[in-house]
Amino acid sequence: ADEGMWLPLFVKRLNQADMQKKGLKLTAEEIYDVNNASLKDAVVQLGGFCTGEFVSSQGLLLTNHHCGYDAIQSHSTPQNNILQNGFFAATRQEEKQNPGLFVDILVRMEDVTGKVLEGITPTTPEQERTATVQKRQRELADNAKENGKYVAYVRDMFGGNEYYLFIYQRFGDVRLVGAPPEAVGKFGGDTDNWMWPRHTGDFSMFRVYADKNNQPTATPQPGNVPYVPKKHLPVSLQGVSEGDFAMVLGFPGRTQRFLPAAGLQLTLDQTNPARIKLRDTRLKLWKEDMDQDAALRLKYASKYAGIANYWKYYIGQNEGMKRLKTVDAKKAEENALLQWIAQDPARAQQYGDALNVINQSYAGIRQYNLSTQYVNEAAFGTEIIPLAARLMPLATALKANDKAAVDKAVADLKGPLADHFKDYSAPTDKKVFAALMALYMQDVPKDQQPDVFQTVQKQYGGSMPKYADYVFSNSFLASEAKLNAFLAAPTLAKLEADPGYKTYQSVYQNYVQNIVPKLQGLQAGLGRANRLYVAALREKNSQKVYSPDANSTIRLSYGTVRPYRGRDAVAYDYKTTAQGILEKEDATNPEFVVPQKELDLLKMKDYGRFADKQGNLPVAFITDNDITGGNSGSPVINGRGELIGLAFDGNWEAMTGDLAYDPELKRCINADIRYVLWCVEKLGGAKHLVDEMTIVNNGPNPG
Ligand code: ARG
Repeated sequence: ADEGMWLPLFVKRLNQADMQKKGLKLTAEEIYDVNNASLKDAVVQLGGFCTGEFVSSQGLLLTNHHCGYDAIQSHSTPQNNILQNGFFAATRQEEKQNPGLFVDILVRMEDVTGKVLEGITPTTPEQERTATVQKRQRELADNAKENGKYVAYVRDMFGGNEYYLFIYQRFGDVRLVGAPPEAVGKFGGDTDNWMWPRHTGDFSMFRVYADKNNQPTATPQPGNVPYVPKKHLPVSLQGVSEGDFAMVLGFPGRTQRFLPAAGLQLTLDQTNPARIKLRDTRLKLWKEDMDQDAALRLKYASKYAGIANYWKYYIGQNEGMKRLKTVDAKKAEENALLQWIAQDPARAQQYGDALNVINQSYAGIRQYNLSTQYVNEAAFGTEIIPLAARLMPLATALKANDKAAVDKAVADLKGPLADHFKDYSAPTDKKVFAALMALYMQDVPKDQQPDVFQTVQKQYGGSMPKYADYVFSNSFLASEAKLNAFLAAPTLAKLEADPGYKTYQSVYQNYVQNIVPKLQGLQAGLGRANRLYVAALREKNSQKVYSPDANSTIRLSYGTVRPYRGRDAVAYDYKTTAQGILEKEDATNPEFVVPQKELDLLKMKDYGRFADKQGNLPVAFITDNDITGGNSGSPVINGRGELIGLAFDGNWEAMTGDLAYDPELKRCINADIRYVLWCVEKLGGAKHLVDEMTIVNNGPNPG
């Protein structure tokens, strides 16, 4: 029922009474405490993009399948296809290292608003304010790092009205322990994605490793041992009922609930359509090739999933904005705010121009926004252009004629290049390049286009496919062997003559020199105006406690297990069972294939201790917790602090949720922990991993 991704720091002050009313039995200190083990010690940010939770004293971590997808795919080959077949490590030795993957564990957080804004007044010139704020943010973070012992940063909240310091321990040795077959972990595929009812076993398992003193290491080390967390979550097999209290702790990435109407309008009619069109094109071309070739399918699986996920998100967001009249609602709110501001001369003095400036800024941004979208989704939607961008440090070193810097730049490229080419198909990328860059040339205003398009016009008769032929036949960026040959004896002349690099340079320089300065001017005014707008809104509605927009910092949301009515005459139940897997099963549709072993077990109703009271195997359930991307993998915790599920998605009817919250429609989709454990123990034959967990039996969930 409740909007809000709350900072755990303030649970006591803001929400404790309400949470207890709904069924919470824990104290605020059991959720967040700096000095004693609390729930926050069991919940980690995974790789900066997802959430995971400790479920054993040996550093065993649960998260979503789609969070582990990239790691799972990276260990898969056509010969040993663990993405397809699933995998559970039988021993610690079989757990697979993932260089580059890390988890951050929160040490503490602090409200540093007073420190950051000290001496700053409403009359402080904006430039001076920005410079002071940035300097203080940096100093506070640097100081908190204790010479590299911690990762620390200051994040602003409420559009720069408040500032918080976050201090983490970062563990760089996170090993893959297990995952179900993709047909379980991504059951329903893109068809079911962002939809309820759901039948996906969206989980995977990792283990965090530390040195002999339980301290983090930056990279995987052979001598490391399983990390002993301060706290791990007990697991309840009791199951959920409607109305049960549910709490989600995790790291939601980004919401924009304070985005003004003009910003919503821009998203609705310019940004999202551009993203959808460009992703449509890219996905279709990738899929054509993936369907032709199993090895290529595996190479592009993770890239495809990531692009497709938000492609569908943007479609749903736009559909929802139209259906729910999100822009109109925001306009009405702004009109009420304007009236409230006009009522009082002091308010008018302080906030009077905020919405005007906002509207003017967006009118200006609208002129250049397509350039931004096409740089991101067209040029950087190819693979050769982002690869070229990686050579920038090398170009800088070559320009400076600095031998040591050149050697370092080349050495730094080794890992990323190997990763890139491991999953790369140049012929596929060429097709994508031809299509996306043609759309760039067609859709973006002529006076905002990079010079390279003139070359395409003059030398290739305006044909992007012909230009793509030329680039991909001649650029060393399209071939691992050629690129390595170049890197063995790099010169600036060779680099600058490369057609792939030249294309990137043209796009990049055009954007930085001709577009960014225009946008920066507009955004500078917008920053101040947004801050005032949010401050005015909070002052006007002072009886309402606002939670800050998500920004990848740790948050708590709470609510209850709850069904919903999706639209006129359509009511959704709050839980699904294995019966629905069998109903959806379709051997002819790759998205709905059910592995034979699962079919056999389900037909025998071999559910063991994971069955519900009616004798069904529970699969997923929904709650009205407020979550967003980044929360993926978050623990769903009952009123006693026990794990009952893993949050993994949101529902189609509430795809506007990141922009505006609708309590009647928005639901959080969770894998039932009993299905997860059934997949590990019965389907995966990895009972030893379940045995590592602390299974508790304390009766039904409170609430
Ligand atoms: N929509 C989910 C999220 O962003 C990801 C689901 C992944 N599954 C899939 N079929 N692509 O959290």
